[in-house]
Amino acid sequence: MQTLNQQFELIRQSATVSLTDRIMALKAAGKPIISLQVGDPDFGTHPAIAQAALNAMQAGQTHYGPSNGTVELRNAIAQKLKRDEGVDYDPNTEILVTNGGIHAYYTAMQSILNPGDEVLIPDPSWATHSNMATMLRGDVKRIPAPAENGFIPHFDSWLKALTTKTKIIVLNYPSNPTGTYPTREYLQRLQDFAAQNNLWIVADEVYGSLYYGEKPTSAAAIEGAKERTLIVHSLSKSYAMTGWRVGFLAAPAKVIGNALKASQNSITCVAPFIQKAAAFALTDPAMQEVTLSMRAAYAKRRDLVLRLARELESDKVIVTPSQGAFYFFLDMRPLKMSSVEICERLLDDVGVALVPGSAFGEQGEGFARLCIAASDEDVEAGFRKIIEWAEER
Ligand SMILES: Cc1ncc(COP(=O)(O)O)c(C=O)c1O
Repeated sequence: MQTLNQQFELIRQSATVSLTDRIMALKAAGKPIISLQVGDPDFGTHPAIAQAALNAMQAGQTHYGPSNGTVELRNAIAQKLKRDEGVDYDPNTEILVTNGGIHAYYTAMQSILNPGDEVLIPDPSWATHSNMATMLRGDVKRIPAPAENGFIPHFDSWLKALTTKTKIIVLNYPSNPTGTYPTREYLQRLQDFAAQNNLWIVADEVYGSLYYGEKPTSAAAIEGAKERTLIVHSLSKSYAMTGWRVGFLAAPAKVIGNALKASQNSITCVAPFIQKAAAFALTDPAMQEVTLSMRAAYAKRRDLVLRLARELESDKVIVTPSQGAFYFFLDMRPLKMSSVEICERLLDDVGVALVPGSAFGEQGEGFARLCIAASDEDVEAGFRKIIEWAEER
């Protein structure tokens, strides 16, 4: 009998899949649903970006392009990294254009991970971070990032997890699902720890431009960190371009060498007309203003949630202020129900869709992720319903 790749048995099909089916069935049956579960901007891509792609398509940029990305886009990315993060990258050797942030993460992990290497990943975190490491035969060790510590791992937890097999630390700040990020000092300590123990740091910074207080520091911006840091980035969230599938990996040249092989042998290249639009988005001054205005809209909704949380004062739903990305990780442990049960009941009883916290790791049990990439009205109505529902339990 033919056998399958056993690694996939280790990957849980998340409860979100069945929940998504349920949402679709309820919608099809005509039930109004307030969708606060999808991590996709409710804004459209700016028409000028679409026009740049259309112009490139009509100008014949519809063939294979260079597999590491066009010179124009790699230059634009280097310019962006210097402008926004203060880090210098060589566009010829240290940047790879990818099919979104998820593909940047894939090429990053392919480049450095050997079977059996241990990968340290905070819990909770976006499921792909651990799933990808598992697919590539890494051993994932989760590092608790408790709500009580602002969803940042206690530093001791990193030290305790270290073994001779530890090879990679995966970070994602601002975080999906918690919306938090650590201080520069914490990152500095973590980089020192990585340097002392010969570890790589893979930093997923796809939400890097979405923050509501002090700007988060890029993991590569710490002095001396660049040589052991792989930055995963994308235009999906910051320019409302999720469907375009364009992002990049910024890393030391030897890593990019491997990543390029991984990319050539999986996608060949990113469509040239998409790259044209991406270069325009990253460099055109007016597009940076658009990103800022989207951030301001998310900030307004974030403040709305915090105001409602203060007004409605629930001890069943504990709200840690989101500092970035477009998420709140609601602590609903006082309800003493599983995350899946909470989300199923919320959907059936009051028509509000959230993601069960357990989809992000064991530490997410009893939590639910609320996404504010929805209209102000939906965010307000949805949040009120969640609190009313919880208070009736
Ligand atoms: C933390 C994180 N990284 C990466 C991605 C994927 O981004 P992209 O659309 O650029 O592949 C997501 C999408 O939700 C995400 O939440």
